[in-house]
Amino acid sequence: MNIRTLLEKKISEALAAAGAKNAPAIIKPSTRPDFGDYQANGVMGAAKKLGMKPIELAEKALQHLDMIGIASKVEIAGPGFLNIYLTEDFLAEHTEHALASERLAIETVFEPQTVVIDYSAPNLAKEMHVGHLRSTIIGDAMARILSFQGHRVIRQNHVGDWGTQFGMLLTYMEELGDDSSELSQQLSNLEKFYQAAKQRFDEDPEFANQARKNVVKLQAGDPEFLKLWKQFTETSLQHCDQIYQTLHVMLTRDDVMPESAYNDDLPNVIADLDKKGLLKEDQGAQCVFMDEFKNKDGSITPMIVQKSDGGYLYATTDLAALRYRHNKLGMNRGLYVIDARQSLHLKQVFTAAKKAGFVDPDTRLEHMAFGTMMGKDGTPFKTREGGTVKLIDLLDEAKQRAFDLVTQKNPDLDENTRKSIAETVGIGAVKYADLSKNRTSDYIFDWDTMLSFEGNTAPYLQYAYARIQSIFRKAGGIQNIDDSIAIELIDPQERQLANKLLQFEDTLDTVAREGTPNLLCNYLFELSGNFMSFYEACPIMKADFPDLIHSRLKLSLLTANTLKTGLGLLGIDVMDRM
Ligand code: ARG
Repeated sequence: MNIRTLLEKKISEALAAAGAKNAPAIIKPSTRPDFGDYQANGVMGAAKKLGMKPIELAEKALQHLDMIGIASKVEIAGPGFLNIYLTEDFLAEHTEHALASERLAIETVFEPQTVVIDYSAPNLAKEMHVGHLRSTIIGDAMARILSFQGHRVIRQNHVGDWGTQFGMLLTYMEELGDDSSELSQQLSNLEKFYQAAKQRFDEDPEFANQARKNVVKLQAGDPEFLKLWKQFTETSLQHCDQIYQTLHVMLTRDDVMPESAYNDDLPNVIADLDKKGLLKEDQGAQCVFMDEFKNKDGSITPMIVQKSDGGYLYATTDLAALRYRHNKLGMNRGLYVIDARQSLHLKQVFTAAKKAGFVDPDTRLEHMAFGTMMGKDGTPFKTREGGTVKLIDLLDEAKQRAFDLVTQKNPDLDENTRKSIAETVGIGAVKYADLSKNRTSDYIFDWDTMLSFEGNTAPYLQYAYARIQSIFRKAGGIQNIDDSIAIELIDPQERQLANKLLQFEDTLDTVAREGTPNLLCNYLFELSGNFMSFYEACPIMKADFPDLIHSRLKLSLLTANTLKTGLGLLGIDVMDRM
């Protein structure tokens, strides 16, 4: 049992014995060492329910609290907080435990869920651009963390391969005529191709009209259009694969479940909404009006599911996807890692799906919204010329910048080694810069900050890891650490490091529950800070007595293992030297 859970149980039991039945203890790591190691914040709430003074309830609970072997003291603080001071032996014992286990003593969850994570999901009409970065990185980290916890994770790459833009592209392909060599040449630069088609679409109403008709034709299964469309989406998916490989994300072709896959089910979605009495015609379009989306003036923002020309919409496909995820994939929890600007769309889809019974009432559907990536000037990230930045160019630049940096620091390393370090550092830096920010806010993309070896960055953490490896090299390798010598926590820095190491599991729990990878980043950053303080205050190879060398090496080893596992769960690699 992890420490927080154990404390939770102990304090809740004491509260119950003091008369507050089923009161949550609300245990949190203390924010300052002089508040103990953990704090229980549940007394106030429990006392309020009973109409008691918090201090009285706290005093009564303490009389029933047995913390022998766990805490050296429990103090009442402020209006009724409990400050818990763990014993060194208890901390040391748990640290040993974590070190001895493959999984750092982190248990898998008691009740595994089937979690569907909808992420990346670019529109195949264009090459992936920076707008797809956040979804891809955040979704992948969540997939790794939830799998590690023992959940059944199903990745779904809901690529857009079926929308209006395909009408536009197909119409443009038609215009180009039958010259297939011309076509394949044009397709080699998807971005350019898209721009050209878009230009035609914007300037010529005839073209635009034809494009709209052609989507309907495609969606009705016209064989000629289907063939062109396949050619297009295949080229596009190859671009995506390349990005996923460069980014080291787990997505493969098996995870691609495109919008088009739901095509045949769309009429059923409409029919089933109708059966439930949820459908209403408005200006020829089929809509769902839900009271939840009432505006101030009393009007309702409808969710359109079928246009007057018969075409289906983004929402229709999402409803079909929800059904599929529920019925076929057995989803208990769905995470939608999508731009915050789609929040209304998702709210409508989730609400309608529940009303229509497409998912169980208790299926958890969560929009893991994220903000926009901004340039240094505070406006959405763009190329110098003001265009959208292709993701592949951004990742290439990351590697190049990291290479220059590594070359500057280690000019003597051979080129291949520098390249491989640069890749791990460059890609790690881009991912970490994103993951370490509060997910829902916009953030400023800044090369210099993210590649810095100081501060809350990937290079800093990777360097902390590499530095610990160099300690082991000096000690003659980790095989020289004697496991049988017990960890002793003598100096406050050792104690603090151990305490922090043991908060890893809890951090993961919170991240998994709230979808906040930035908390894992903060944790790893603080852990590295604790390690650095320990390293400065507590000599390892020159420790006062031989056993202490082993104890300190063991603490270092658990730190390295935790950093490696933690970064790994964020999709970031470490290296032994850099
Ligand atoms: N393709 C969409 C876009 O680029 C994102 C799809 C997200 N997933 C979903 N189920 N709607 O905006």
